[in-house]
Amino acid sequence: MEHVVREPTVDDADALGRVHVRAWQAAYRGGLMPDDYLDGLDEQERASMWRSGLERPPRARSLRLVGESASGNVVGFIVVGPADGDPAARVGELFAINVDPDEWGGGLGPALIERGVAALHRFGFDQAVLWVHPGNERARRFYAARGWIDDGVERHQTVLGVEVPEVRYSIDLGSS
Ligand SMILES: CC(C)(COP(=O)(O)OP(=O)(O)OC[C@H]1O[C@@H](n2cnc3c(N)ncnc32)[C@H](O)[C@@H]1OP(=O)(O)O)[C@@H](O)C(=O)NCCC(=O)NCCS
Repeated sequence: MEHVVREPTVDDADALGRVHVRAWQAAYRGGLMPDDYLDGLDEQERASMWRSGLERPPRARSLRLVGESASGNVVGFIVVGPADGDPAARVGELFAINVDPDEWGGGLGPALIERGVAALHRFGFDQAVLWVHPGNERARRFYAARGWIDDGVERHQTVLGVEVPEVRYSIDLGSS
């Protein structure tokens, strides 16, 4: 099925808050992130973070996209831009991709990453990176199946107040 993928408006903030929390709770349960942290994630709080972000235009060489379900609800998103926020960077980054767990396996994740990577290519980045929790097997399979390579770099990152391990994946975009 073809999914509608489009740039978000401020009116999408509530749906984005919901997707964000539901995707994290599904992906990071089982020891990847603390249960009490996951239980405490708040859709309204995430929605207001999205709302303030969406009130500003995207930064240079950056793009946010949302994906809709067959019934027209926003059930996924992707955010791409320059790595480390440096607009002059040669390396782009896939900052986030999240799909509501009810929609996993339905083709929206692939549609979003295809559009996100195409945008990074269009913005002129030579290469792109992303960081993923080493225990997030589903996401790692998803990236590996699309040509992203685990390049052996690890870090610990504080994500919304919780320290998590991350491994880096990269992809050659072949931009000239
Ligand atoms: C990552 C994400 C966007 C992928 O979307 P999706 O709809 O789940 O993707 P797909 O089902 O098409 O692909 C997932 C891959 O994992 C495989 N997979 C499915 N179930 C799996 C399982 N239980 N364990 C491991 N791999 C699995 C699929 O076979 C598929 O691999 P393939 O492309 O080789 O067939 C989505 O799972 C998501 O939002 N996850 C939560 C948030 C997240 O982890 N984001 C990434 C953070 S870096």
